Amino acid sequence: MSQPQPSAEGRARGAVDLSIAPETTGSSEDEVDLSPGSSRGLGPTGRPRRRIPEPPLLDKHGPASVLAMCNQKGGVGKTTSTINLGAALAEYGRKVLLVDFDPQGALSVGLGVQPHQLEQTIYNVIMERAVGVEDVVMRTSVDGMDLLPSNIDLSAAEVQLVAEVGREQTLQRVLRPALPEYDYVLVDCQPSLGLLTVNALAAADGVIIPLECEFFSLRGVALLIDTIEKVRERLNPDLEISGILATMFDPRTLHSREVMARVVEAFGDIVYDSVINRTVRFPETTVAGEPITRWAPQSSGAQAYRALAREVIAR
Ligand SMILES: Nc1ncnc2c1ncn2[C@@H]1O[C@H](COP(=O)(O)OP(=O)(O)O)[C@@H](O)[C@H]1O
Ligand SMILES: [Mg+2]
Repeated sequence: MSQPQPSAEGRARGAVDLSIAPETTGSSEDEVDLSPGSSRGLGPTGRPRRRIPEPPLLDKHGPASVLAMCNQKGGVGKTTSTINLGAALAEYGRKVLLVDFDPQGALSVGLGVQPHQLEQTIYNVIMERAVGVEDVVMRTSVDGMDLLPSNIDLSAAEVQLVAEVGREQTLQRVLRPALPEYDYVLVDCQPSLGLLTVNALAAADGVIIPLECEFFSLRGVALLIDTIEKVRERLNPDLEISGILATMFDPRTLHSREVMARVVEAFGDIVYDSVINRTVRFPETTVAGEPITRWAPQSSGAQAYRALAREVIAR
């Protein structure tokens, strides 16, 4: 397997060739050991792992970095990554607020909350001036990690916000008073590039793009990057892409490794060294209503999200 070199041109945003030739995605049976202990010392991205320091201890909290977990494709691991990155950051002593910004409420369900039973959600915070984050925020089973839940009510906000002044900056405005209390606010976006997602991008310091290691995953990323650039130009000049997180990686298949090589070639250094493998442990955690760091603390999935948390803290 060739070692992909991140190219400077390839990294220039907007000029990224995101195509994968279909012929290159043939057999998936070929097995190569890409585990950290393999003889070539390369990480799953095909690059040597960068040295990431242990996160320093904090003696005070805030103001929070706001990170939007964003990809308009569904099922790529946005919600799973929000829960588990959040829980891993909390294990490192960071105070974390998770914002469920998808009317499906999967983030809330994944933390054991029954969203349809809630009287107030992020929807009320967004739409009612009298309701603030502090009225709706919930503790989770993870120490130091709070949740702003959502449910199907939020789908109405998308329509109602259209008529409001400053409609794109509503989330930014309502989150602002909460930022001093937290170190990280992670916003789990819905799978679309509509007004809710634009609100998340306008409120964010950085975007994390979970990208499934599958053939069609790169389709649509150009449109996402285009949207991020527009938000940067028009609403939020400081917005940056914090990183690309490869998810659903299967180190045994040539296909997965080839998609990974394309991703690293296209995006270079912003691809996290931490990679999330495909494993049934994640669907299990959804049923359990807990992060994998609690459900299976020693699992490779839990370790992978801890490694991601160290990278996020270091960036
Ligand atoms: N690394 C993984 N391996 C296997 N299944 C996963 C993984 N990450 C997420 N899943 C499962 O895939 C489905 C979609 O994941 P989810 O995080 O909800 O994606 P999104 O929020 O992007 O729609 C869920 O059932 C989840 O449990
Ligand atoms: Mg989701």
